[in-house]
Amino acid sequence: QDNSVNGREGGVEVEQGWEGVEIEREEGFLRPLEQRPCRGVQEGGVIPVIDVGAAVSAGVNPAARRALLAQVKHACQEWGFFHVANHGIPLSLIHRLRQASKEFFQLPSEVKLQVKKHAGGLGYYQGQLTNNIRDWREVFDMSACGYLELPHTDPLTNKVGTKIFHNQWPSDAIREICEEYMREAKRLAFTLTKLMWESLGLPPTRFEDYFGQSKTHRFRFNHYPVCSTPDLVLGVGAHTDVGALTVLLQDEVGGLQIKQKDGQWLDVHPDPTSPVINVADVMQVLTNDKYRSVEHRVVVNRKVDRYSFSYSYNAASGIDVAPISELVNENNPPKYKPINWGKYTMLRIDSSLNTLEFEHTTL
Ligand code: SIN
Ligand code: FE2
Repeated sequence: QDNSVNGREGGVEVEQGWEGVEIEREEGFLRPLEQRPCRGVQEGGVIPVIDVGAAVSAGVNPAARRALLAQVKHACQEWGFFHVANHGIPLSLIHRLRQASKEFFQLPSEVKLQVKKHAGGLGYYQGQLTNNIRDWREVFDMSACGYLELPHTDPLTNKVGTKIFHNQWPSDAIREICEEYMREAKRLAFTLTKLMWESLGLPPTRFEDYFGQSKTHRFRFNHYPVCSTPDLVLGVGAHTDVGALTVLLQDEVGGLQIKQKDGQWLDVHPDPTSPVINVADVMQVLTNDKYRSVEHRVVVNRKVDRYSFSYSYNAASGIDVAPISELVNENNPPKYKPINWGKYTMLRIDSSLNTLEFEHTTL
């Protein structure tokens, strides 16, 4: 696999950024050779499309419901990623959301920095790292619950408490659009998580225990500026998502790649009208690896900015996440020890962990 598309070697200093970004050498974007983007492969196929509109009608038709659940199961086991059709999010809302994020990111840096995010919190941020290297993107983080509530251990006193982060809004107009979109994304994520649950034969009542009163749902605007050396950097380095499920809306530019079972990167076709859904870490742990949280990354380009929107549907903050008892037995023992979801989120936020692998070995 050729990771250096233009055949450039390591040691090249990358010194340019976008408006307002001061690039210091030690905060560089330059990826080592093995992380550099190669062209994604298309031969691996295209991710499945699932008609979610059918979830409503299939509710009354047992054969149609079984077919839908089989589709969900196949997508989650084999791909970890799928598109949804008939998702019910109004296209006019998607359009307004895109406008809002463009307007926000086009603001002068000093204005954006008025809603700057503080350690692990919510707001505007330019310094995202994966694998300790800077991502070629800027983000704006929000909570779908008005605030983000996470268990927290004070490093000085060792006292366990709760950390609460409030949304910071650049304007009332952006707030209204985001709140409307987050309600839609939450509804969709709820429907899909329930389908995943049911597709594994799990009792619907237990769903409440894990997802009942979450205050940890998050929503993020991503902006990937154009880059004159796209073969040396990544918009986002390879990672898996922390929550249970992600609803990711792309624009028409493309750049998202997912890692296939053979280690090759597959380009995900951008469809600005249909969100991509992906299984995230909590679902992988709950299902004892039946459903996989698949690594993905974003490549950038020379010509056009890219915008995307990720809504992270999460477990309730206080719960312990462990493989569900119905899914383990003597032949299939639990692969994970219980992980407190809130602590795990903080761990992923505070450290530079990018994937779940760590959990196999350390906790
Ligand atoms: C992410 O996975 O963090 C963002 C994905 C995207 O922008 O397509
Ligand atoms: Fe992601």
